[in-house]
Amino acid sequence: MSEPRAVSVGVLKGGFGKTTTAINLARELAYRNERALLVDLDDNGHMTLILGHDEAYRGEQWGINHAEDVLIDGADPQQYVVSVTDGLDLFPAHVNLEDVQSGLKEATMGTTRLKQELVDELLGDAYDYIVIDCPANRGKLNDNAMYATGNIIIPLRPENGYETGLSNTVQRLVMEAREYFDLDILSVLPTDLSGRIDQATRDRALLREMTTREAVAKHVPNFAYLSEADWDAIDAGEYDGPLPGIRHRAAIDNANDEGVPLRDYDPECDQLTCYDELAQIVENGEVSR
Ligand SMILES: Nc1ncnc2c1ncn2[C@@H]1O[C@H](COP(=O)(O)OP(=O)(O)O)[C@@H](O)[C@H]1O
Ligand SMILES: [Mg+2]
Repeated sequence: MSEPRAVSVGVLKGGFGKTTTAINLARELAYRNERALLVDLDDNGHMTLILGHDEAYRGEQWGINHAEDVLIDGADPQQYVVSVTDGLDLFPAHVNLEDVQSGLKEATMGTTRLKQELVDELLGDAYDYIVIDCPANRGKLNDNAMYATGNIIIPLRPENGYETGLSNTVQRLVMEAREYFDLDILSVLPTDLSGRIDQATRDRALLREMTTREAVAKHVPNFAYLSEADWDAIDAGEYDGPLPGIRHRAAIDNANDEGVPLRDYDPECDQLTCYDELAQIVENGEVSR
């Protein structure tokens, strides 16, 4: 096992695959190693609800805002961790995470709380890896995730607005944070691809941009990367390599509906190898080509 690491999965756009990526990445990290923890920092609570912890989200399980108790009042996070599957746990979102965000604005050193009160408490001790599902809007919760992890995985979906999703995230989240601390882009991740790439589709446009813009291309995992030679072969009708992932699969969507990670829903799904490679990128701390 490599050194313990916490990672953020974030993009300033909803519906781009953050939650799906975070769940399945953390599942593979737990599968390949020992123990992983998911942290749901999105006030929409999708991850917490998908994984079946509605009572924790609504505040009924513990009778308090557990996120506030930890991040504002310094309580022990471990008492609020619930189990997902073998080796994988979840620190759930709370329906009033917005209040926590306001509290963090007022708090002394309000950007450091997630690191101090949760990540530093648990990482390398209770968990080998921590994966944080970030909110789609800018604010103190995102700042906390960036500061606590020092890195970000940016999922992108080939739908209208991916260019602004990426540029907003890089400019308004990554660059602004970099004025104050080191923040690595760990991966830029095309997800939910279903179109052809030998014709002028949105998938092709997304992959072209991702794999030819140098600053971005080096962060694209091998399962989604196409070299100049690959593109030449595609345009000559001679490409016989695998289609770039993560592909659209009913099993990935159904696993969310069933409230389990992909590996536990369909261990035969061909896209599991992508999540496994992503887990290796997290273990290594970079994409190696
Ligand atoms: N590779 C995929 N194949 C099929 N459905 C997917 C895939 N990736 C994501 N989805 C679906 O797309 C929707 C949005 O994904 P989600 O992870 O919730 O995005 P976000 O967290 O950024 O809002 C969800 O319904 C999810 O199940
Ligand atoms: Mg989400």
